[in-house]
Amino acid sequence: MSDVKKLFVKTYGCQMNVYDSERMAEAMGADGYVETDTPDDADMILLNTCHIREKAAEKVYSELGRYRKLKADKPDLKIGVAGCVAQAEGEEIMRRQPLVDLVVGPQSYHRLPEMAAKAGHGVKQIDTEFPEEDKFDHLPRGPKARRAPAAFLTVQEGCDKFCAFCVVPYTRGAEVSRPAERLMAEARDLVERGVVEVTLLGQNVNAYMGPEGWTLAKLIREMAKIDGLERIRFTTSHPNDMDDDLIAAHGEVEKLMPYLHLPVQSGSDKVLKAMNRKHTAEHYLRLLERIREARPDIAMSGDFIVGFPGEDETDFEDTLALCREVKYAQAYSFKYSARPGTPAADRAHVDESVKADRLARLQEMLNQHQYEFQASMVGKTLPVLLEKPGREAGQMVGKSPYLQAVHVDADPADVGKIVQAKIVKSQKNSLSGVVV
Ligand code: 5AD
Ligand code: SF4
Repeated sequence: MSDVKKLFVKTYGCQMNVYDSERMAEAMGADGYVETDTPDDADMILLNTCHIREKAAEKVYSELGRYRKLKADKPDLKIGVAGCVAQAEGEEIMRRQPLVDLVVGPQSYHRLPEMAAKAGHGVKQIDTEFPEEDKFDHLPRGPKARRAPAAFLTVQEGCDKFCAFCVVPYTRGAEVSRPAERLMAEARDLVERGVVEVTLLGQNVNAYMGPEGWTLAKLIREMAKIDGLERIRFTTSHPNDMDDDLIAAHGEVEKLMPYLHLPVQSGSDKVLKAMNRKHTAEHYLRLLERIREARPDIAMSGDFIVGFPGEDETDFEDTLALCREVKYAQAYSFKYSARPGTPAADRAHVDESVKADRLARLQEMLNQHQYEFQASMVGKTLPVLLEKPGREAGQMVGKSPYLQAVHVDADPADVGKIVQAKIVKSQKNSLSGVVV
């Protein structure tokens, strides 16, 4: 028998969780765990959970329930819950689901290997503290394995904004920025492993302020100097943290891709105020004007909530008007749903049928704009970063600068290369091109 143990990680939610899951798997790798893609043969199962959507906790409990038989057959199996549901529910998880051996909040991942070693056979481990040290500094690193060409890099976590609908300030805690020198070293390390594109992640990424006084703009400008790193992206931003230098960087840093996810949530000043967004629709639109001056072809993306408590038909029409003006290339939209513990949760709710109607109308417009944006690419020649094989033989899928999936005929050996592709066909969610 070898001592290789198998780890199954199931990741929910945002890109930051994807990044965290990779780091946790690497850390467990130092303890002899290799990843498996099924829970059936795992020695440890780790659910990295997300709390942003409705009934998130319920989904986690029902997933855990599915592991009952596995654990009965293999009493050594360790089951852990990480992420934002772990943070929000804490010990309640252990009470409700005795199968769980460990609960670890997003700020305590550096303790995971130690907790996993202790947990099991009735020994429970829980850590949902917000410690001072940077969890990533203390995570063991894996060997220099080759990586996919596009990687995430978490630069900042947490949020101090307290939008009235959002759980993030409670589950991820206050804004904390990682030291710039670490991030530069990590970026160089990623490039050595074959990474060509880095997406800088943070719940409020443009609020980044490193201990060295570096802003996000400075970090981007410095990373752009790394040879072999060809593309830089960042997400998610708050309108109030778009400073002049970051706007200028969009026009000056060639490696910074022309795609910006900048959620506005609503086009009504009354609703924005009730949401505690601390900006108006006008402020957002003027900001966009300045960004488009710096980078005229920028593709805009956003998030919307419809049916926030107090939103009436006129407010909703303000949201439609804002969308008409911005013409998002891509957007996410949601019906408001209460998150326990957030300020808006106790307010009088908009009727479910009204929410559904508004969401449908908003999405019809957003879809139309997305369709038009995609269609406007036909005939253009775009640089495409080849990321992985496509569904058909001889086909590869890559990304345009505007974050669109592009299918081209190419050799799988060319993964990681940037090719020039003439776009010949557009669909809502992808483009087809011919390498020129
Ligand atoms: N209800 C609906 N949508 C929400 N979001 C965050 N909290 C809620 C909620 N309570 C949406 C916001 C945010 C995105 C990540 O999820 O639009 O920007
Ligand atoms: Fe949530 Fe608002 Fe912070 Fe974004 S800015 S994470 S929506 S509280």
